[in-house]
Amino acid sequence: MEIIVEPPKDISFSRLRGRGVWRYSPLIPGRYSKIVSMGEGNTPLIKSSIKKGLYLKFEGANPTGSFKDRGMTVAVSSAVSLGYKAVAAASTGNTAASAAAYSSRAGLKTYLVLPKGNVALGKVAQSILYGATIMEVNGNFDLAMKSVMELYRSLGLIYPLNSFNPWRLEGQKTIAFEIAEEIGVPDYVIVPVGNGGNIYAIWKGFNELVKAGITDRVPKMIGVQAEGAAPIAKSIIANKDEPEFVDSPITIASAIKIGKPVNWKKTMKAIRESRGTALIVSDEEIIEAQKMLARREGLGVEPASAASYAGYLKALSSGLIDENETAVTILTGHALKDPDAMLRMDTKRVVIQPEEVRDFVLKDLVS
Ligand code: F0G
Repeated sequence: MEIIVEPPKDISFSRLRGRGVWRYSPLIPGRYSKIVSMGEGNTPLIKSSIKKGLYLKFEGANPTGSFKDRGMTVAVSSAVSLGYKAVAAASTGNTAASAAAYSSRAGLKTYLVLPKGNVALGKVAQSILYGATIMEVNGNFDLAMKSVMELYRSLGLIYPLNSFNPWRLEGQKTIAFEIAEEIGVPDYVIVPVGNGGNIYAIWKGFNELVKAGITDRVPKMIGVQAEGAAPIAKSIIANKDEPEFVDSPITIASAIKIGKPVNWKKTMKAIRESRGTALIVSDEEIIEAQKMLARREGLGVEPASAASYAGYLKALSSGLIDENETAVTILTGHALKDPDAMLRMDTKRVVIQPEEVRDFVLKDLVS
């Protein structure tokens, strides 16, 4: 399902008021009796300190630490306005944390279906903190998603908060609005792809700006997937019409460990219509990118988010993108989401006596 927006003709950035997702309310359809918001959006767009044309959109600065909050404010407001008392979501973790937070704020019951053993620690901890009901299932994310779709179809009482719900994407498209308002339309936008909702949402946002007469073009959308979970990227690269689903996806980037992306049609449309492409990165490249983002740019992101930066580096080295062209990588989630991934990194770390600290530093400085 797609939501088609006919933007008001008299709209311009300078007439908008407020900050974050709801600043763009003239472009967000729907009637809401109550808006459930925590000031999501308005995230930093940071100029790279090492790559000339590159900007980094730090979605880790959202209230629960990922871009999901942009969609959740719209979807949960919609659930409340429609009179729902309970919501559900399957998740690799970030959707769960965000759904739990926004639903708690709205006083709704939250049911989460998580693939047992496949969700990063910080995200499980958040879901517990917000008091959601957590069902951990044996099996991967795709099976968890299937169970939520069945739940939604057979029990109409539950409002679904996954990205097959198009209202979520109406919030997420504001990433495009913020980028365009701050730096204009870049040449490329690079997005890590799991279910494929976000890349489509961002593309949709840029399209609506063109329709509204605010901008005159759409950036090339580049979707990045991890090697062991790349059904969409593989089909784009092979120029096929449909993805070959992966039964047992595998990658260190647990957020995008998805073999059967529900939004694959929308993703392929966004990539093809924008004349973009897809890239596949290995787990090693993801970890290297995560490290480089932290150690050269100062930005802590989780592995899935680093996939977009890994994709940018790959596009640079293959000549697909020139460093002088403008590119924005979407850094989708905060590093704190996945402490295990950080703890596996190398750094100089010693256990010493307090009186040895001075000598240690002195020796280290001159080495
Ligand atoms: N990056 C992060 C950090 C994510 O959590 C996700 C998706 C994506 C990228 C991919 O976005 O699915 O719209 O293509 N996480 C979902 C979840 C699946 O359950 O939290 P997408």
